[in-house]
Amino acid sequence: MKIDKWIVAEHLQGVPDVRRVYEKVTEDVDVVLKDDEMLLRTLYVSVDPYLQGIALDTPIGDHMGADSIMEVIEAGPAAPHRPGDLVQGFGGWRSHVVSNGSPALWQTGTFPMVFPAYRRLDPADYDERLPISTALSVLGGPGMTAWGTLTKFMTIRSGDTVLVSGASGALGSLVGQLAMRAGARVIGTTGSPSKAEYLIGLGFDTVVDYRQGDEAETVRAALSAAAPDGIDKYFDSLGGTLTDVAFSMLNVDSQVAVCWQWATQVGADHVGPRLLPYIMFPRTTIRGIFSLEWFTEQNWAALHEELGGMVRRGEIHYDQTVREGFDDIPDAYRSLYVNRDANRGKVLVKL
Ligand SMILES: NC(=O)c1ccc[n+]([C@@H]2O[C@H](COP(=O)([O-])OP(=O)(O)OC[C@H]3O[C@@H](n4cnc5c(N)ncnc54)[C@H](OP(=O)(O)O)[C@@H]3O)[C@@H](O)[C@H]2O)c1
Repeated sequence: MKIDKWIVAEHLQGVPDVRRVYEKVTEDVDVVLKDDEMLLRTLYVSVDPYLQGIALDTPIGDHMGADSIMEVIEAGPAAPHRPGDLVQGFGGWRSHVVSNGSPALWQTGTFPMVFPAYRRLDPADYDERLPISTALSVLGGPGMTAWGTLTKFMTIRSGDTVLVSGASGALGSLVGQLAMRAGARVIGTTGSPSKAEYLIGLGFDTVVDYRQGDEAETVRAALSAAAPDGIDKYFDSLGGTLTDVAFSMLNVDSQVAVCWQWATQVGADHVGPRLLPYIMFPRTTIRGIFSLEWFTEQNWAALHEELGGMVRRGEIHYDQTVREGFDDIPDAYRSLYVNRDANRGKVLVKL
């Protein structure tokens, strides 16, 4: 059978030049399954900014890894899932996958991590309101990251001022709405006027216009106007100047969740002010977020119950931007970086 895959053809730093980084390859494969293996067909793939780091650590010629939803087509007698099952796992940018679905160690240059075993999705958990594709968005990694941060680390109290960087994205839009439900005054950042309107529509109290590279004094003026009484909680996925300024505005007992650092990871902006003095007197707690640690059966069930329940009751709104077709994957991924205006919430590709 023919299997399409996008392989990593070149390692390039910075905003991904997808025409150079990725190359489409079609292989003619004679599939002979081992007893514990499955042949799976990919239904949806996720595109995420963190894939920039994954691509840099992927050996040249290997397929691009990514979270995906797959249907089991054939299975050996000892395979963990049966034909017809739907599973979510790190299947990658491939039309079909042959795998035993076991946890996979990803030994990157910086930090080893284990991508969990393929997880069976129970069709009874999904419906029109929360279709199966949400296993990659509000009921998947982004939902778990937002919900996990707010239930296992950040203690948002009524009246808190919460700053969410990258607020229009899959994660930020959920974090912001969860913070509002806890009674916080929520400030979000975006670089797009139409997304600013979108955030106000979701209930954000204030939107700060921010793009990586903005001058510190401009950012300080905007943040000071938005948060005249300082910042109690900061959910950060951008880093850079915004974070430099936000740290100087932290209140007593503040908390900072570090979810990603666009400025450093993509923008190669490694030098900034020394931030630790700013956390001393306010007694700030900073926590790195590594959502894979929350990917347990118990947490998935709680996510469905709690966050899924809020969506079903109309208390939380989520969006998905679903693109179509295997050939569109690199461009869908590129849209996370350039010409981002059309995206709302989680960006996925349906195959
Ligand atoms: N630590 C963890 O465990 C964990 C788990 C999941 C995800 N993450 C990471 O968390 C981050 C957010 O995830 P997501 O799914 O919400 O991503 P997303 O949907 O792509 O949203 C990214 C946000 O970043 C903003 N942004 C992108 N480029 C920017 C730039 N040059 N300057 C300023 N803002 C920029 C976008 O703002 P605009 O409104 O201007 O377009 C958008 O709001 C990602 O980097 C993701 O990889 C981390």
